[in-house]
Amino acid sequence: MEVRILSPTVGRASKELTVPTVIPSVMGLGGTEPGQDWIGRDLGSYHLLRILGTGGMGIVFEAEHRLLGRRVAIKTIRPDVANDHSFSRRFLLEARAIASLDHPGIVGLHDFAFEGSIPYMVMEFVTGRTLEDLMQVGRLAAPGLLRLLEPVANALDHAHAHGVLHRDIKPGNILLADDGRTLVMDFGLACLAGFTMATDPESFLGTPDYISPEQVSGQIVDGRCDIYSLSAVIFEAVSGVKPFPGRNWIEIASRRLLEAPPRLCDVCGDIPPAFSERLAHGMDRDPEQRPESARGLLSRRSASLQPGASNGRGSLLAAPARTSSRLKALLRL
Ligand SMILES: Nc1ncnc2c1ncn2[C@@H]1O[C@H](COP(=O)(O)OP(=O)(O)O)[C@@H](O)[C@H]1O
Ligand SMILES: [Mg+2]
Repeated sequence: MEVRILSPTVGRASKELTVPTVIPSVMGLGGTEPGQDWIGRDLGSYHLLRILGTGGMGIVFEAEHRLLGRRVAIKTIRPDVANDHSFSRRFLLEARAIASLDHPGIVGLHDFAFEGSIPYMVMEFVTGRTLEDLMQVGRLAAPGLLRLLEPVANALDHAHAHGVLHRDIKPGNILLADDGRTLVMDFGLACLAGFTMATDPESFLGTPDYISPEQVSGQIVDGRCDIYSLSAVIFEAVSGVKPFPGRNWIEIASRRLLEAPPRLCDVCGDIPPAFSERLAHGMDRDPEQRPESARGLLSRRSASLQPGASNGRGSLLAAPARTSSRLKALLRL
């Protein structure tokens, strides 16, 4: 897949990434959940405490520095994919992408190291929950949601200006920290200007519900693929329905190639038409028609969304007890 970066600030020549071959047997391939048998062990200077999350490629642990006592999150690659060289190369690319960025809306990377031949990254440990968790509670009011996502938009604009495309913006990769921050995480599919991933297998394509049409069809992508995905996230968070529901990957992905983007006001009452139009532009099949920046997509004023407004009677009917007062206020529960 060819990659075009919105802002041509990075002009390095393409380089191939090389990493040591990973020996999967080191990580144990017993019958338990991947990484489970690592808990209680040490990885470099860190003691692994518990699994925070397991995804398509990685396992994320909460860990503690043995001497400093500092809590961190450690991400490493799953033992069952570790023998696939393309995964370890992609993992290094993920670390390089994060390392090239410095933004309050992006989870910070402390270090990248190998334990033997196993790569792992040491990240800031953030307590909180994902936007996906919050969306399971119910629909979110648009003005509060846009405020919540402002740091994400700023982080994406920062990444694009530094030659990095995230390519997998989805609710599960947006972290709502207990301290009030909203952070973008998981640059596992990121593209970094100047580096090539000669063969990006299909498994690196991203999540079909949020992926842009140009990613589906293998076209040139730029920062506007992330703007598409962010628009799809907002559409679902506000309406409670995915923009292009389907029974399988092919149906979900191909509908966005063949059909015009849905209008939020058609599925959700009390939405200002200007806001509905803005989101439809964000999901336009033609990247040229999308807003140039993520910040532009979220601009409340031009979308006719006043901070105190609600997007309807049905939004977030039930708030669980653990929803913090900050989020309740923000989302007007
Ligand atoms: N820095 C972090 N601090 C706390 N939890 C994290 C951190 N990074 C990841 N996690 C947790 O681990 C899960 C998986 O992480 P992610 O980077 O999205 O990996 P994957 O590529 O497997 O999806 C996240 O959904 C989140 O719950
Ligand atoms: Mg993820």
